[in-house]
Amino acid sequence: MKPKVIVYHRIPREIKAEIEEKCETVYFEHLNSPQDPHFLQELKEAHGIMGTKLKVNRELLDRAPLLKVVSTISVGYDNLDIPELTKRKIMATHTPDVLNETTADAIFGLLLATARRISELDLYVKKGQWNQMIDEDLFGVDVHHKVLGIIGMGRIGSAIAKRAHLGFDMKILYHNRSRNFEAEQKYGARFCSLDELLAESDFVCLMVPLTPETENLMGENEFKKMKKSAIFINGSRGKTVNEKDLVAALQNGTILAAGLDVYQQEPIDPENPLLRLNNVVTLPHIGSATFETRFKMAKLAAENLVKGVTGERPPNLINPEVWETG
Ligand code: GLV
Ligand code: GLV
Repeated sequence: MKPKVIVYHRIPREIKAEIEEKCETVYFEHLNSPQDPHFLQELKEAHGIMGTKLKVNRELLDRAPLLKVVSTISVGYDNLDIPELTKRKIMATHTPDVLNETTADAIFGLLLATARRISELDLYVKKGQWNQMIDEDLFGVDVHHKVLGIIGMGRIGSAIAKRAHLGFDMKILYHNRSRNFEAEQKYGARFCSLDELLAESDFVCLMVPLTPETENLMGENEFKKMKKSAIFINGSRGKTVNEKDLVAALQNGTILAAGLDVYQQEPIDPENPLLRLNNVVTLPHIGSATFETRFKMAKLAAENLVKGVTGERPPNLINPEVWETG
């Protein structure tokens, strides 16, 4: 009998076919709630599940007695309770690397758009307000030759550093749990304390994964340590930032502007004050969202899923100890 899997995300037809070859597959293109009775019914018999965003916690796992693999179609996995999965000998997998360059493009684009006020000016032109503006109303700040501080110099952080160094002659500071010698050698990045990075950078780009250590990493004190002329970019997770403090910093002129791909609550509440600030550029958590990269991510997640439920080692295990002691 084929193992049974649930896919709770829209994926390309050809990847569906790859999964179906080896597994009995149930799809939920839009899983609105993990309480969906049909989903819970299928979960009872599922050996593997694959998708994004769903909170995989004890409560959900209690309803999935046969589960062997949880395959998230993302690099971040703060939505998965890894200790609980490991305790239950369930493999967890993610999709690193295939999205590095694409996400770096998006985050660097956000940085440029914020510095040069691209979305604000786009709106002026489209609304026919060009002639009502004096030149200075259109000015932004330079990106080239400035100091970029990257908090979280992982694979995506390095790809951002590469763009900044090779394309924009930026000086790069970084703060990370451990040194990244490759980024130091290739992109001239200099390791420093968080305080020094905040004080010296013209652009502060947050790229850390969300963990108990990074939750609320940026708050009032941190924004105060930044230059008044500095721009903050968040490409990590919304909960790494105290959003109220960010709003205050942007309103009070503690910092100049922010470019955000992620929020405390997603989708963002339309009443969120961030959405009423001209010095904020927003994206809807879309860093990896190109046709090419989302295809690669779905393909890799499917490989992780299928291998996991058919007794092969998935290539991107988050908790390899489950396999090794398996
Ligand atoms: C996106 O945020 C991801 O984790 O892949
Ligand atoms: C972080 O930057 C990662 O690529 O995991």
